[in-house]
Amino acid sequence: MRVLITGAAGFIGGHAADAFRRAGHEVTGLDLRAAPGVTAGDVRDGRALDGPLRGMDLVVHQAAKVGLGADVADLPDYASVNVYGTAVLLAAMARHGVGRLVLASSMVVYGEGAYDCAEHGRVRPGPRAVRDLERGRFEPRCPRCGAALDPAAIGEDAPPDPRNAYATTKLAQEHLAAGWARETGGTAVALRYHNVYGPRMPRDTPYAGVAAIFRSALERGAAPRVFEDGRQRRDFVHVRDVAEANLAAADLAAGPASSAREPGRLVAYNVASGVPHTVGEMAAALASERGGPDPVVTGGYRLGDVRHITASPERAREELGFRASIGFAEGMREFSTAPLG
Ligand code: UD1
Repeated sequence: MRVLITGAAGFIGGHAADAFRRAGHEVTGLDLRAAPGVTAGDVRDGRALDGPLRGMDLVVHQAAKVGLGADVADLPDYASVNVYGTAVLLAAMARHGVGRLVLASSMVVYGEGAYDCAEHGRVRPGPRAVRDLERGRFEPRCPRCGAALDPAAIGEDAPPDPRNAYATTKLAQEHLAAGWARETGGTAVALRYHNVYGPRMPRDTPYAGVAAIFRSALERGAAPRVFEDGRQRRDFVHVRDVAEANLAAADLAAGPASSAREPGRLVAYNVASGVPHTVGEMAAALASERGGPDPVVTGGYRLGDVRHITASPERAREELGFRASIGFAEGMREFSTAPLG
């Protein structure tokens, strides 16, 4: 296939480009930053897309402004790059008759993960109150009776509940892509990445994921600073597995119509390892691989963070044939000394 990968000079886009090339596809990269095999261009610039889109079979859209952001001053940038940029890209794809899209989405579209109350079954707790966080009460409670909850793996049909600007723009991208698919008869696959880590992960910035922040701290000889009580659960998935999920999604988007792939519709998949870990365990694993210093649990918190978010990888397993192959211990061992971006 001839594939255009946006964000191809970035962390996940770069690994996706490697995987598509290894699988024998013809890859064109587009990124704000030029790099070997990557043309410099902005997805918000429709004219800059005309050349790269010509003759393409598929677009893998990874270009985005990521992370939690520093503060509300970031809002216009998130909306511009992620929402407007996707709109310009989809319009250009329609102009060029490119009818297949794989979209980098995120588990942040769910907000909090899934929770079960012994009394009320599956519930959706709202954002945690500042007064609870201040008192070290980190676990969300049942919104109906206030009881303790059991965290569970979230499935793709859970209603979205984005909690910050980045999450809102990722959900908007999914909605725009679904509208594009309906109107053009195109196929769109949204991959909801869980916590991606691995070689070339961007280092410590306000926009970086926690694994890179801990890794950068250890490199400076500083202790990873674990927020809350360290027992918040995430699904850490290796970037090479994520690249493989993109390949599988491309095959689905390009394949014959099936129950999973109907033209005119967007299908979303969790991209996760299926094996949750706590943030404290992740800090401990990296620290131990590097021979210290040991993590410090600070009890601090960030507004906008969710407590637990872990995924069911079932739908991706059944419909994409995707199964993460790099385990937590092995992945963290490699990541503890791998180059950062
Ligand atoms: C992260 C990404 C999000 C991405 C998603 C799926 C960021 C900021 N968030 O969401 O963009 O879509 O994965 O790939 O990149 N923490 C610490 N110490 C720190 C920093 C964070 O303990 O120094 C804790 C946080 O409080 C949180 C957890 O680590 O509980 C995860 O944080 P982070 O990786 O930033 O965000 P996610 O919400 O998991």
